[in-house]
Parts: sequence; structure tokens; C-alpha cells
Amino acid sequence: MIKILPSILAADLLHMGDDIRRMLDAGADGLHVDIMDAHFVPNLSFAPAMVKAIKGRFPAAYQDVHLMMDNPEAYIDTFIAAGADAVTVHAEIGGDAAKLLRDIRMKGARAGISIKPCTPAEEVFDLLPLCDLVLVMTVEPGFGGQKFMAEMMPKIVALRQAGFTGQIMVDGGVNESTAAQCVAAGADALVMGTALLKAVDPAAVVRACRALEEKA
Ligand code: DX5
Ligand code: ZN
Repeated sequence: MIKILPSILAADLLHMGDDIRRMLDAGADGLHVDIMDAHFVPNLSFAPAMVKAIKGRFPAAYQDVHLMMDNPEAYIDTFIAAGADAVTVHAEIGGDAAKLLRDIRMKGARAGISIKPCTPAEEVFDLLPLCDLVLVMTVEPGFGGQKFMAEMMPKIVALRQAGFTGQIMVDGGVNESTAAQCVAAGADALVMGTALLKAVDPAAVVRACRALEEKA
């Protein structure tokens, strides 16, 4: 079953609760929460307080937290305590990614590793047994609304060929048309910011993306 995760980075910040309600009503499987530190990426976004606030208002909403930050080890506990169901760290941060992934699982969340466009899939092969999900970036992390990089699709194929049976999530420029390539390559989770939050009929976008599974 394909999971559709709207990225709240594309929400109207002054109507966050309404936008989240609209996304959940449209049939989304949860929320993708982008955390940026102005260091690992050249932008700032949300803090653990946002995850906590969402948890308070929408306790049943699955929160997929994407940490685009250096030193994520200092914040993993805080995000999980705030309500993160999955926590994804970047392979490019250096340091002991295996330890981080183990920690995330030990603390009761699903563990993910993400790769930027410049990072080959092979770099994370050793980590796959520790991962519940792999997040393949199809834009340079940092901003919503960028153009989808189709040349990342072979990474998804390579991850499946390496035997990874967990979730493969695609993030960046995913819309109704680019989603088809992701699903055909073997992805089963789609992060959609602009394409869902700015859609006139988000439920129709969710339905169209789910229907891709039958074609794959
Ligand atoms: C980019 C973020 C994405 C972003 C996607 O760094 O990780 O999750 O919100 O936005 P769209 O779907 O608009 O490309
Ligand atoms: Zn993201």
C-alpha cells in the first residue's frame, strides 16, 4: 500500500491546523515534518514544539520527521518524546549513523536514513538492516517547490535489488505525474509538499497516487 505523506513545509503557516485537517480529510496517511537547522541545509523550519503541538491536536496522525540537521543525536529523544513516529537522519552528517538508527528504534520510533542527490544508494547498503525506511531525496534538501530529479530513480531500483524490503520514500518535487516513476522504480511512500498542500482537490491527488500501485 502506497503511503502518501504531505509535507507541512508547504502549509499556510498561519493556518497550520486547518491545513493538517484538510490533508488528513483528503486521505493522507500522516504528515511529513521537515526539520532544518540552517547549517546542514541553508534554511530553518520547525522545532520539536511543532511535533508536540500536532500530537496534541491530532494524536492519531502519524508523524514522519525528516531531520535535515547536523548533530541529530542531540535531538532524537526530544523529537520522539514530542510525538515522532518515524525519525530519519541523513547519511551525509558523518559520525556513527548505525548508532543513531539503533537509538531511534530502541526509543520506539521507526528509523530512517536519507540520501541527498549526490550520495549513491550503495553508501547506505550496510545500514539497511537497521532501517525501517530509506528516504531518497529527489531535490537538494532545504526548500519545497523544486524540480523533481528523475535521475535519482535508479537508486530506488538499486535499494530494492540490494534486498531492502522496508519503506522507500521519495521526497522533493513529487506530484501526480512524477509519482508514477517513483512507484514504478519500487518506492512505496511519497512525500508531497506543494503538490498536495496547494492542490484544489487534494483528495483527488491522493486517489490518483494510490491508483499507481495497481499499475506498478
Ligand atoms: C525539502 C523537503 C521536502 C519538501 C518537499 O528539503 O525535505 O520534504 O517539503 O516539498 P515539495 O513536494 O514541494 O518539493
Ligand atoms: Zn522532507
